[in-house]
Amino acid sequence: MGEPVEERIEFLAAEISRHSELYYNHSAPEISDSDFDALWDELKQLDPENEVLHKVGPEPLPGTVKVEHMFPMRSLDKGTTDDDLTHFVTQSTSGGIQYLAQPKLDGSALSLEYVAGNLHRAATRGSGERGEDVTLNAKLVANIPTRLNHPYTIHVRGEVVMPLAIYEEKYSHVSPNPRNLCSGALRQKHGEGKAKASDLVFCAYDVKFPKDSPEVRFDSELLHWLQKVGIEPAPWQIFQSENPQDEMIKYTEEWSLKRSSYEYEIDGIVFKLDELNHRERLGETAHHPRWALAWKFPSQEAHSVLLDVDWQTGRTGSVTPVARIAPQMVGGVTVENVTLHNVGEVERLGIKIGDKVKITRRGDVIPKIIENLGQASSTDLDNRFHADGTPFSGALSFQNIIIPEECPACNRKLIMEGAFLRCLALECDARTARALTYWCRTLEMDGIGEKLIEALLEKSLIETIADLYRLNHSQLSKLDRMGDKSANNVLEELAKTRTLNLAKFLHALGMERIGPEVATAISQHFISLDNILGWIETGDDEELTVIDGIGEKVAAIFREGISKRKSLIIELTELITVIDETESSSGIFDGKSFCITGTLSRPRKEIALAIKSLGGKVVSSVSGNLDYLVAGESAGSKLEKAKNLEVNILDENDLETLMNGATNPTSEESIQKSSSSTGTLDDWM
Ligand code: IVH
Repeated sequence: MGEPVEERIEFLAAEISRHSELYYNHSAPEISDSDFDALWDELKQLDPENEVLHKVGPEPLPGTVKVEHMFPMRSLDKGTTDDDLTHFVTQSTSGGIQYLAQPKLDGSALSLEYVAGNLHRAATRGSGERGEDVTLNAKLVANIPTRLNHPYTIHVRGEVVMPLAIYEEKYSHVSPNPRNLCSGALRQKHGEGKAKASDLVFCAYDVKFPKDSPEVRFDSELLHWLQKVGIEPAPWQIFQSENPQDEMIKYTEEWSLKRSSYEYEIDGIVFKLDELNHRERLGETAHHPRWALAWKFPSQEAHSVLLDVDWQTGRTGSVTPVARIAPQMVGGVTVENVTLHNVGEVERLGIKIGDKVKITRRGDVIPKIIENLGQASSTDLDNRFHADGTPFSGALSFQNIIIPEECPACNRKLIMEGAFLRCLALECDARTARALTYWCRTLEMDGIGEKLIEALLEKSLIETIADLYRLNHSQLSKLDRMGDKSANNVLEELAKTRTLNLAKFLHALGMERIGPEVATAISQHFISLDNILGWIETGDDEELTVIDGIGEKVAAIFREGISKRKSLIIELTELITVIDETESSSGIFDGKSFCITGTLSRPRKEIALAIKSLGGKVVSSVSGNLDYLVAGESAGSKLEKAKNLEVNILDENDLETLMNGATNPTSEESIQKSSSSTGTLDDWM
């Protein structure tokens, strides 16, 4: 006879309490996450009301709860050369402006939310808009205070890194680089990860004020302030000469020498404008701020041998060559697949199977072949190991690379477009699979990835994106390895995306070159999907080229992309709701139009950005509807026309005055615009 149910319940409840205590209060779990879940599930089944299950439990398990970032966590624009740095300086200033530099730490980005001085929540960067709650593990990082020395409400951003000395001593055999260990340690659930969170260090680089904020001019002042508050920033250096780029270049050279002896892994230097007002003027793209540049160290290079080439059809129909190479370590990672980009690149390199090649890998960038070193010899294959440590045993063969004439996925005839080989069929299997995956990934659907999409296509349960929204529970739960719970999850994730805004919708369709930024600009222009469908009938691409950043090519791609997808779009609108864009309302220039002409003291683009950041529109021609003409030196016909039409004319000073009157609190996103500026930083100590 088995044990009575009561005894089993008692045992399970006691075990759950014991393991919770071990995990949460002693960071010393004895069992794995899944074993713990099994105990929990069994108790839930036997005694759903058991108090252990309903105890106001500890904080949510790391990595399972999503956090909306109040201030999005953007990426950084990248450069690698001295010229990139000089270009950044000339683009971001008209001279005499202060810059700040910090090492670019190679770890995992973390946002710490303090409420009234207490660490309320910690989250990973995730998509930049949404991260994962990792509060429990963040609290184990020794230099992250759970309480500040004053009751501030602030969001601190920084990088969690692992000291290289600790990595070498404890972890170099479990991971090829410390970076992977950092994100693993933050996101592990019951301490089952490869590294302990207590072996990590937090280095801050930014602070945001969701409520009251101090009056402050420079970012570097905030870094000093963080130190006083009890949070350690990454080291920084200020450049303030008239032509700072020379010093900045020198600084990159100094760090290139110091890099290998620095205590943390770094992959470059981040240069930022120090003055916060100036940052605000330059603004941000959907991807990165315009006021910062990540200068990256020259790439890491190595030699290997080209063994074979596979051709893959992507979402946009381009058929790209993927090179299989003999395994080679580059920058701590074993690489066996590298991209050859396109047919043009294969021709440019004049490469053949059996050639020795130079490959490069930098940070997260996909490794690539950069040089053909001629025919390999068999010794070039010696002493090679796969990533899992098993020896490589390939042999050399010499052949030309055959450029396919037919699509590897649907066998339709391919065409050449410039350097690219393309499959034009929208219904091509590979394109469909990738477009479906892209849709799900863009809309951040958890648990709907490549494998599930492939299974659904294989079982003919879906053919198009619209079919995703017709899936039902019984179809899903019949798939391999898909239980009742997972099927429900998939349906829930799909349900969450049944209402979405126009910009997200356009982006998720996955048209070539229509990324988040272009999609946002287009949706702000057209406001509704109906307007877009109406516009494709007119064939007037010029209407789109008035949008900053959209040229003829993108306009044509967009029109063609929408035309080809018209029936899909109409089908989709019967299943999901696409919300119209609302007119932006971000400042006192809302609804006002500006035209800029003549020679000005700052680049025209910079002035245009400043106007836009306050809600204004910048147009290229003068008409009776124009609100303001900003006229610099030697303004010509536009000035005359504006005078005749009685348009308001501003010189640079007038504009400045208007804008200064405009820097009223409008958005929570920036410190100097924040809801109430209460005193200087000194008052804040
Ligand atoms: S400033 C708007 N400073 O690099 C973003 N970022 O490639 C402002 N990073 O996600 C970031 N060290 O996690 C900044 N000293 C530093 C940094 C740094 C590392 C990371 C950061 C960001 C990534 C972007």
